[in-house]
Amino acid sequence: MTETVLLVGGGGREHAIARAVAGAADAELYACASNRNPGIASLAEGFEQVEETDAGAVVDYAESVGATLAAIGPESALNAGVADALDDAGVYAFGPREAEARIETDKAFQREFMAEHDVPGCPDFEVFEDAEAAADYIREYDGDLAIKPRGLTGGKGVRVIGDQITAEEGVDYVLESDYDAFVLEERLVGEEFTVQAFVANGEYRVSPAVQDHKRAYEGDEGPNTGGMGSYSDAAFALPFMTEDDYAAAVEVIDAVVEAMPDYKGILYGQFMLTAEGPKVVEFNARFGDPEAMNTLPVMETDFVELLVAAREGDELPELEFAGQATVCKYAVPEGYPTDPEAGAKVQIDEESAGDALLFYASVDARDDGVYTTTSRSFAVVGLADTVSEAEAIAEDALQRAGEEGLRVRHDIGTSDLVQRRIDHMREIRGN
Ligand code: AMP
Ligand code: GLY
Repeated sequence: MTETVLLVGGGGREHAIARAVAGAADAELYACASNRNPGIASLAEGFEQVEETDAGAVVDYAESVGATLAAIGPESALNAGVADALDDAGVYAFGPREAEARIETDKAFQREFMAEHDVPGCPDFEVFEDAEAAADYIREYDGDLAIKPRGLTGGKGVRVIGDQITAEEGVDYVLESDYDAFVLEERLVGEEFTVQAFVANGEYRVSPAVQDHKRAYEGDEGPNTGGMGSYSDAAFALPFMTEDDYAAAVEVIDAVVEAMPDYKGILYGQFMLTAEGPKVVEFNARFGDPEAMNTLPVMETDFVELLVAAREGDELPELEFAGQATVCKYAVPEGYPTDPEAGAKVQIDEESAGDALLFYASVDARDDGVYTTTSRSFAVVGLADTVSEAEAIAEDALQRAGEEGLRVRHDIGTSDLVQRRIDHMREIRGN
């Protein structure tokens, strides 16, 4: 039977999901998002402009196209109960219901859940609803803390003492910002990596680890962003970690799935590889953006077959991966993220990207071409046997795109930067 799949969301991550659905053996794609992503629109039978958080409008569109499955990209939709509304309307949503999505959307819940269920890798933490009490805790704490507003902040609310700010600035931050609750937790030091698992019916399947680059500028300088680019290796582990480190991260995923038997969709673990092994920075209830663009292009298992198995309560298929390294680099508007300048014409499309894949993100498709907005514009992804070769493919595509009005972190995936990660881990582990 042909499945009719509704995709919710219009970023680079969702363009990667759209490509996976379009490449499935027997599926038709429809999509809805607040922005018209030209890459998704060209793969879909229909594209409707609706707010991703408007559960009623998403359900109306799902029913009007006869959707049999839905894939939800952004956390804002999960937080708004879009998966609940689709499920309740009889359209199986691959994405957790609002209650389970709290593992991402409520950082206090996330840590308390870990503590209650003995999920390994939980840093020491305290939750504060009173800003004065939080300030006192920061003043008295012996060591560095990460300060996290309880709710969603688009990746921009966390402040790390000893990294981005001083303890004094941390005190000012909790006293002066409008957030109603904070999680204060032990600062973790090491190298970050992501593991994304496909979860349904108490089962899960993992994918290769990915390393994202959150800082805006080369050399990991500047403000945090949604993610400037990412790489994965031909193996499941990254060059700076061992297979045991990867296995320890999977143990964490395992413990979460066991403690949350109704969870469905992607469970994204963000880990810090510390001297004591992987600790959990956070969980997300969806694919990462950019990480989806590393993972889905190398996944050889039919994505829609996986969703059907999830819906039917069948055993999930074992996942096959191509065994290739990937490098993803985002082109963002000049001035992003603090002072982004929109309106540059994008000089590249999927045909002219050479050997790289092109994924559109927040762009504006006009009659005479595609233009940048104030968010991340598009990403190029190279696939090859090694990270360096994949990096060269991504760079070749970026050269074709030209640099006018755009900024890129050219260092992502270079042997230099990967070597620095390896050296950093050696230093932390003292070997
Ligand atoms: P989040 O918004 O939770 O993704 O956090 C943004 C970034 O803050 C993470 O990618 C980490 O780099 C950093 N971060 C969060 N929690 C911690 C922690 N406990 N220790 C050190 N860095 C952290
Ligand atoms: N790449 C980080 C995120 O999707 O939250």
